[in-house]
Amino acid sequence: MSNAPKTKVLVVDPGTGWVKAGFPDDRGPSAVVRYGTNKPLKGQEGSVVVDWAALEQALARTFRDELRVKPSEHAVLLAHAPDAPRAEREKLLGVLFDRFEVPQAALMPTSVLALHATGRTTGVVVDIGDALTSVAAVHEGKAMDRPVRRSVVAGRTVTAVMGKRLADEGIDLSAAKEIVRDVVEKFGYVAGDYEKEKARSAMEVLKIYELPGGEVIEVVQARFEAPEALFEPDRFGLKAKGMQELLLAVVEGSNADIRAELYANVFLAGGGSLIAGLAERLSTEIGRGAPRAQAHVYARPGRKHMAWQGGSSLATAGITTWITRSAYNDKGTAVLDRP
Ligand SMILES: Nc1ncnc2c1ncn2[C@@H]1O[C@H](COP(=O)(O)OP(=O)(O)OP(=O)(O)O)[C@@H](O)[C@H]1O
Ligand SMILES: [Mg+2]
Repeated sequence: MSNAPKTKVLVVDPGTGWVKAGFPDDRGPSAVVRYGTNKPLKGQEGSVVVDWAALEQALARTFRDELRVKPSEHAVLLAHAPDAPRAEREKLLGVLFDRFEVPQAALMPTSVLALHATGRTTGVVVDIGDALTSVAAVHEGKAMDRPVRRSVVAGRTVTAVMGKRLADEGIDLSAAKEIVRDVVEKFGYVAGDYEKEKARSAMEVLKIYELPGGEVIEVVQARFEAPEALFEPDRFGLKAKGMQELLLAVVEGSNADIRAELYANVFLAGGGSLIAGLAERLSTEIGRGAPRAQAHVYARPGRKHMAWQGGSSLATAGITTWITRSAYNDKGTAVLDRP
């Protein structure tokens, strides 16, 4: 490509919980930093980034303190939410060029990046992050604008519900969210069938968790109750759709001639998708909602950083459309239409 960067490319996926950043590398992002970049307040539509100052600060610290690079010396490939509205993408471009003075920039939806990491060009990406779950279809390497479905029930929600469930049992970890998150990561799982799981005896489900002080707690039904929020949020008083509903809406809302291919290529992505049993349950739910679909849900290793990894390989292969600073200076944000 004529405007291929002459500088080393930096790939950055600023999630709502963690910023993933680094130079392209098969082993993953060299910096994974816990900076709360933003907090999506809205469910289905509108901007994802609501706290721009926090996002800028998180990026500044990632560049300066973690990667120790000058963004003004690097082309930056920045990931954004699959349904980030035009205004949000314009603002992101402004942040890169005006605030960080990058020489070149590229904006790509996390869905396209994540799917690229799988080697497929058509499929659905179900990204369960910290504060956002998004389901988006990609067709022949391009994001399909519509439909994309999102929900604010994601990894952070599972941790919150786990905290509540433990509190109900007299274990108050409200001041130790990181511990609750660890309990989810170690012992959480999605039930194949929620009611059947509930009927099992406590002894079969029981796990012992050791707190940093050496004290131990028993984790029983909360193990699968908390992750159930991803599928049945209303059970926990959350006004949202379950992830299986989001997925069915996206595929059924796509052109009839590609639906079969979409169902056959469902890819889990994001840290929240690491929870055990998720792919199996999602397959079951698809079978229920679309009985004739030949669905396949992939839970690939490395899916936690799949968007970053896809960005890394796109940048390495040189198949990203870069926007140069001079083009941005000439055309302003209209450059998003034709770089
Ligand atoms: N093994 C695990 N089991 C369950 N949840 C996990 C596991 N590992 C990480 N998580 C959850 O994944 C979430 C972080 O994932 P990720 O880094 O993809 O989010 P993000 O990109 O920052 O957020 P978003 O994509 O929503 O903007 C956290 O909520 C964390 O609790
Ligand atoms: Mg993310």
